[in-house]
Amino acid sequence: MRVYLDNNATTMVDPLVMEEMAPFFTKIYGNPNSLHAFGSDSHPALRKAMDRLYAGIGAKDSDDVVVTSCATESINWVIKGVYIDHILRGDKDNIITTEVEHPAVISACKFLESLGVKVTYLPVNSQGVAEVSSLREYITPTTALVSVMWANNETGMIFPIKEMVEIAHEHGALFHTDAVQAIGKIPVNVQEVGVDFLSFSAHKFHGPKGVGGLFIKDGQPLTSLLHGGEHMGGRRSGTLNVPGIVGMGKAMELANLHLEDENKIVRSLRDMLEDEISKIPDVFIIGKKEERTPNTLLVSVKGVEGEAMLWDLNQKGIAASTGSACASEDLESNPVMEAIGAEADLAHTALRLSLSRFNTKEEIAYAIDAIKAAVTRLRSISSTYSYAPKWHKSRL
Ligand SMILES: Cc1ncc(COP(=O)(O)O)c(C=O)c1O
Repeated sequence: MRVYLDNNATTMVDPLVMEEMAPFFTKIYGNPNSLHAFGSDSHPALRKAMDRLYAGIGAKDSDDVVVTSCATESINWVIKGVYIDHILRGDKDNIITTEVEHPAVISACKFLESLGVKVTYLPVNSQGVAEVSSLREYITPTTALVSVMWANNETGMIFPIKEMVEIAHEHGALFHTDAVQAIGKIPVNVQEVGVDFLSFSAHKFHGPKGVGGLFIKDGQPLTSLLHGGEHMGGRRSGTLNVPGIVGMGKAMELANLHLEDENKIVRSLRDMLEDEISKIPDVFIIGKKEERTPNTLLVSVKGVEGEAMLWDLNQKGIAASTGSACASEDLESNPVMEAIGAEADLAHTALRLSLSRFNTKEEIAYAIDAIKAAVTRLRSISSTYSYAPKWHKSRL
């Protein structure tokens, strides 16, 4: 059996999404900006896809939703654009984010630090969440941007975005949220939370890879990073990825259509997995179940190196992760567990299991047996399981 439990890294393209995309590779392949019918043939589908994106995140017609190549691009655009518009021009001087953002945010902020910008990385509590009180403590009248993820990719923990947006706006700062791990898992409505910018990525909600989006609130200026043929209303140049946009629109529609039902089913499968794993001695599950996205589970298995666990599971056809997919090629410890305050021994024992609506009960039962067997085997040969590393400052 092959079981894919790494849906926070990427997801399978829904067959219905594939079906909608297919004609735009070989039949309706004109450049939408061309003045002939090969080009204009794609316009109705593009309009429909954009409508689906607006509806999917609750944007108004007057807002901008700009299609990008991925969430990494959307995130870099916001952070560097706000730097150009507000910090370089001298009216603001700092950015606030959190210690547990995706590398797309952290690396863009580090880049700005290298240019002399002050960046504050809000600490997280024992659940891996940055608290509203800590934003209140660090924000200043010269903060240009607050960038806080909606849901964490490692733990699935949901952040108090709405309250944070209010604080940012009270202080005259703009607010961006990385909603990559929220869309398709929990309701996302830009008007309800009042964010200025929101990033998303199609391949995390059963759409294709290589296409993402940036929501820009009505009237909010943001200097473009890609100059050229003035596509996307002049916001982002580059020939439109027509199949990608059509696919992302359909995937967004399906994500919202399935939200309630699928969340019940995915949540119950995740809980089944979590309840069984919790019975293994010396395991720590990060974050309260009810405060997480319904598909995610991050567990520390004492005495078991995360990579060794992945290897054992892979032998049985099961895909999981030890940390952010983009950063997990080396043997570094899990960054969120480090931020929570876990000692290195424990931060190296992270196992992230992330489900989707395509997982079945049989698959989860198979994975439970495989995980239990792997823990028994790996602990029997572990040199670290005999002693007990402690959570730093008893924060768990
Ligand atoms: C929370 C979060 N933000 C951003 C990204 C980057 O998304 P993309 O692959 O579209 O660049 C990811 C992907 O792992 C993510 O999980």
